[in-house]
Amino acid sequence: MTHKLFDLSGKVSIVSGAAQGMGKEMSIGFAEAGSDVILVDINNIGAEDTANDISKLGVNCIVVKCDVSDTTQILDLYKTVDKKFNKIDIVANVAGPGGPTAPPAELDISQLEKVVNALVIGRFVSCQEAGKRMIKNEKGSIINFGSIGGWSSLGRGHTAYGMSMGATIQMTRELSTEWASKGVRVNAILPAQVWNSGLRERIKNVPELEETFIGGIPMGRLGEPHEIKGPAIFLASDASSFVTGAILPMDGGNLALNAGGTYPGSPRVYA
Ligand SMILES: NC(=O)c1ccc[n+]([C@@H]2O[C@H](COP(=O)([O-])OP(=O)(O)OC[C@H]3O[C@@H](n4cnc5c(N)ncnc54)[C@H](O)[C@@H]3O)[C@@H](O)[C@H]2O)c1
Repeated sequence: MTHKLFDLSGKVSIVSGAAQGMGKEMSIGFAEAGSDVILVDINNIGAEDTANDISKLGVNCIVVKCDVSDTTQILDLYKTVDKKFNKIDIVANVAGPGGPTAPPAELDISQLEKVVNALVIGRFVSCQEAGKRMIKNEKGSIINFGSIGGWSSLGRGHTAYGMSMGATIQMTRELSTEWASKGVRVNAILPAQVWNSGLRERIKNVPELEETFIGGIPMGRLGEPHEIKGPAIFLASDASSFVTGAILPMDGGNLALNAGGTYPGSPRVYA
């Protein structure tokens, strides 16, 4: 039996990054909880695949191709949603590039601008458009995807990504404070390493990386994309009606662990 506080029936959700990974799983999770879903991605074929999975669940679902680093495309997305659904209850800003890896002294500024555009400006414009509509309706839930890499430093040349995810976390705090009294909740989820195609490729090229990741995750494993469903449905639904400005790690214990610490079973030295 599921509790009715988690019921999303009659709600309309936008999820970016819906073609694969956590965005896909989240979209399916929202649909399973009863929400209509707008699937947003630059990868139309992948998003159509997700739509196909959702079509069996008895909710409305459309695909909108949109590059979240392009403000005009985000504005067009919201206009499409206005036309087709005339309301928006839940927005999950999931999509984003991983960013270039480069030693900070060599980081190309045009590469940095690209990441900031997608992860900071893109998320902000989406929050702004969602916020305008939700404030009018006096209700709404926005979920921003950050990263543990926006909370503490990953090193390994991830400066552009880390800076941008740090900005996403602070954006979430600012907007939650501004909009809390207007019925609009804004929260963030910070994943640690969760399996995706990019990560599989990197680990294939540098196998020791998996051990490095696991050394920081007391659960002793990487996350699976479907594990986003629970936290996302919680933050989207009335189950979290008094929760805003929360920065929720989904990290197998990563942020609780001191960078120099170990846990039983850690591949690092345990003494
Ligand atoms: N997987 C992890 O280990 C991890 C850890 C921390 C944070 N995150 C963040 O979580 C989010 C989702 O991660 P994931 O692992 O599910 O990703 P993923 O790589 O599996 O999927 C990302 C999706 O976003 C889409 N996308 C990329 N750039 C886009 C753009 N400019 N406009 C529209 N769509 C775009 C891609 O086409 C893809 O479908 C990302 O923001 C990522 O930075 C992931």
